[in-house]
This record gives sequence, structure tokens and C-alpha cells, in this order.
Amino acid sequence: PPITQIFNVSDFEYIAKKTLAPNAWAYYSSAADDEVTLRENHYAFHRVFFNPRVLVDVTEVDTSTTMLGSKTSVPFYCSATALARLGHEEGEKGIARGCGRQGVIQMFSTLASYSFDDITDAAEPGQVQWFQLYVNPDRSISYNLIEKCKLKNIKGIFVTVDAPVLGNREKDKRMKYIDDADIMEAQKEKVDRSQGAAKALTSFIDTSLTWKDIGDFKKQTNIPIVIKGIQTPEDVILAAKHGVDAVVISNHGGRQLEFARSPLEVLHDTMPILKAHGLHDKIEIYIDGGVRRGTDIIKALCLGAKGVGLGRAFLYANSTYGEDGVARLCQILRAEIQTGMRLLGVQKISELGPEFIDTRNLAAR
Ligand code: FNR
Repeated sequence: PPITQIFNVSDFEYIAKKTLAPNAWAYYSSAADDEVTLRENHYAFHRVFFNPRVLVDVTEVDTSTTMLGSKTSVPFYCSATALARLGHEEGEKGIARGCGRQGVIQMFSTLASYSFDDITDAAEPGQVQWFQLYVNPDRSISYNLIEKCKLKNIKGIFVTVDAPVLGNREKDKRMKYIDDADIMEAQKEKVDRSQGAAKALTSFIDTSLTWKDIGDFKKQTNIPIVIKGIQTPEDVILAAKHGVDAVVISNHGGRQLEFARSPLEVLHDTMPILKAHGLHDKIEIYIDGGVRRGTDIIKALCLGAKGVGLGRAFLYANSTYGEDGVARLCQILRAEIQTGMRLLGVQKISELGPEFIDTRNLAAR
């Protein structure tokens, strides 16, 4: 269908499912075991309802905010996903351009299909990009990547910590197939392709990573260091104590530990504990997983998130309509956020807070 017939995030997913090559659909859509956490990430948003205020002048609403010190037009960002080229020839370059057109921040993966330079060169001057770091067993490779981030004006480094080993993704395993062309040149020779796309990628990830290494990365650079894949309030507190600038509460889109809790609920548990420790203004909290609507994003912000990431939505938009799809995805979400803010009686992102939501149905620890 023409792109003007795409009205929401799920429309992209529906078309992606119909049109993607089977191996790409399997890799993108799969999650761990019986995919309970995948569904739960999404369902948790359905347990939160709004307390809208009326008779507020909402002629003008402003969706802009700052994340890691960078100004951005919306409180969401594109989260890192490996192998964007499986779905579209332009891969992460198309995502960069689509995000650039809409003033949306792109985080790209260590395991992107295109090289670091290709992806940063696809961005416009001044466009904000973040880098997602999988820490390599050969630490010098990771330090070189951090140096590269400095050169290329990357505004945030996200160290992913929820994948020391790979979650059990059976849809993907059944494919046992991955196209050489879709893996970055530098990584090509070393990849074992016998177990599906996901398995092929994990030999690049260090299973011995600990909190001490995080401190070492902090010393390497002034670029904000963010830990991606935190799943308990305790680890948010530890992260703050280690001086990291931000965390992403995430279970990797349900692809890692099955029965990990939804990031929305973990966020709900975290904020009071963070406040009790006096750390709530020391660290920014982001969440990702299961986001499909502007109202999902608003709910997370009301609970205290600084911003919200989307993974598969960007892959599906890029796979189906390329950079135009990415730009449209951003427009759709922005429009949904604007409508949500107007109907809530809110003019600015900074006004969003817990008084606007009813969380009685969220499980609390
Ligand atoms: C991911 N994710 C991910 N995360 C990361 O830090 N590095 C990576 O290379 C990847 N690769 C990746 C591939 C695919 C196909 C998916 C679906 C996800 C996780 C991603 O950044 C994010 O946490 C989730 O995708 C969020 O969930 P939703 O938005 O997909 O529901």
C-alpha cells in the first residue's frame, strides 16, 4: 500500500511480516523461549490509564526535550538493532536519513550491517547519533570504537549488558541462514553461520564484563556512558554510584531472559527507590520494549523516564518503506504524542508526572 495508508506502528509490522524475507522476519521478530516477556513488555502499557486535566490551553504543545544533554524534537529515539540490511538494502544508512529528516536521535549497533563511518556519514551535519557498544573480549577493539565515537561526534555510548550469552530465539534458529552481505566486512570471516543470525553475532561479546569495566570506560571519554539492559532498581542504584550518566531499563525487547519483567514496571519500582537514595537527579532513566503508541511514550515519561526507545518499529518501517518509512514512523509517533498531550491537558514534556496516570494495575514489588 502507499505510505499514506500507514496510520500506526502496527501497520508497518503487518506489512513487514507479509513482505520480508523469512530469515529477516525470523531474526527481527523473534524473542526468547515462548515470547512471554515480548508480549508482557507491550501489555504492561495497557495496565496504565490516564487522569486527564481539562480547560487547559493546548493550542500549542511542545514535544521537544533533551536527552543526554542533546536537544531533540521528541522524547523517543531509535534503539540499536543489528543487521538492518537484512530488511532493506540501505540498512542503518536509511534509518540515519529518516531520523535526520525528523530530528530524531538514532542509536546504532556495534553489529550494524554497515560500517561506523558509513552510518555517521549518512547523517546530516549536527544530527545527533548515539553508539551502542558490545564490549569485545579483545578490549582494544572496544577502546578503538570509543576513540571513533570521539572523532565522529557521537553524543552517547550505550554499553549493552543484558546479553553476555544469547537468549533462546527459536524462530531465528530454525532459519539457520544468514546472508554474508548483511554482515559488516570486518566481522565477516569470523562469523559462524550454522545457528541462525543471532548466534552468529555473539562471539563478539565479552561474557566476563563487570562493573569495574564500566569505570574504565568512563575514564576513556567525556562522552556520556549509558548502561543499556538494566532490569532492577538495585542495579540502577549501582549504576548511579558508578557515575554513569544514564541507564536504559530494558530486557532487549524480550530477546534475552524469558520472564524478565516489563521495563515499565521496573521503572515504576525504581523511581521511589532512586528518590529515597537522593539519586534521582544524578542519572537519567530511559526505557525500551513494547512501545507502539504515543500514549505508551507519555506513560513512561509520567513514570519518570527521560526518553523511550523503539527497536523493531524502526526496523519494520525501514524494511518496508526505507528512509521514507522511518520518517513517517517518527511523524506518526510525534502526532500521537501531541494528541495525547492535548487530551491530557499538558503543554510541555516537563509537565508530565505521576499525577497524570493511574498505576493501580501495575505490579509493584
Ligand atoms: C535488538 N536489540 C539490540 N540491542 C543492542 O543493544 N544491540 C543490538 O545489536 C541489538 N540488536 C537487536 C536486533 C533486533 C532484531 C531487535 C529486535 C532488537 C534490542 C533493542 O535495542 C531494543 O532494546 C529492543 O528492540 C526494544 O524492544 P522493541 O522496541 O523491539 O519492542
